[in-house]
Amino acid sequence: MSRVSEQPVDRITIPLLQRWKQDGRRLVMTTAYDAVAAPIPDPSVDISLVGDSGGNVCFGFENTPPVSVAMMNHHLEAVVRSKPRALLVADMSFLSFHVSVEETIRNAGGFLQRGAAAAKLEGGGKRIEMVRAIVDCEIPVMGHLGLMPQSVNVMGGFKVQGRKVDEALRLLDDAHRLQEASYFALVLEGIPAELTARVSDSLTIPTIGIGSGPDFSGQVLVFHDVLGQTEGHRPKFVPAYTEGFQQFHDALSRGAADVRRGAFPGPQESYRLPEGVGEAIANWAPSTSNYHERR
Ligand code: KIV
Repeated sequence: MSRVSEQPVDRITIPLLQRWKQDGRRLVMTTAYDAVAAPIPDPSVDISLVGDSGGNVCFGFENTPPVSVAMMNHHLEAVVRSKPRALLVADMSFLSFHVSVEETIRNAGGFLQRGAAAAKLEGGGKRIEMVRAIVDCEIPVMGHLGLMPQSVNVMGGFKVQGRKVDEALRLLDDAHRLQEASYFALVLEGIPAELTARVSDSLTIPTIGIGSGPDFSGQVLVFHDVLGQTEGHRPKFVPAYTEGFQQFHDALSRGAADVRRGAFPGPQESYRLPEGVGEAIANWAPSTSNYHERR
């Protein structure tokens, strides 16, 4: 329960999120991919993440390694145009922070030049060198540990992480190394609830969970999941607050049926000619000279 009195906030900043964490206020982060949908959750949430989950929900890939820097920039530019109030964070795609420090800085810095407030990247201790370099360039960084979708091939699928002693201890260690490297927040995906609670308790930066139980500083809601827009199997941690896929399908089939039966568009949805023009076009007849002049 928040102990903070609700004040209208024009723009959410990293220091504000850190204060809210200290005040015990739970944070909410939603994903955003375009300028039309991004404003829908914006007034109710604290962080807007242009996630590489766009690879799944927008591009139809089975996983996120195929997502490129260009795809991320394309989505980010669209979301920036919606002028979000929430803190805007963009996800660094696979291979965009692995090759060299220089490339990593350019890719993360490119997000800030496009209007993001921070970059997010997956990985623990192995990525520290890259992260220190970005932080040194005044680029705030959000981490992501546990089930890291870009490591799907190493994990052998999307599996809960941190169930074994060595895995759980490594995750705790990594979380602290990331905090020391000045990350401002940390996503914990697909780990047991007890481990989330231990990590969250022992860190001063906010933790943001997904599929990781209730004991965090905040939760991620993936836009298409919350709206029930994805078809097929839904993991148990994925809440659908409405059946969007079915609702959109029904609305569009009603629209299509109205077009087919001639009910749409009708007089209400049509423009009319001013007086006199109707008569002129009714009296028009094709003539050879007109035809050649027009060409
Ligand atoms: O890409 C994404 O949407 C994410 C969240 C699930 C944290 O990384």
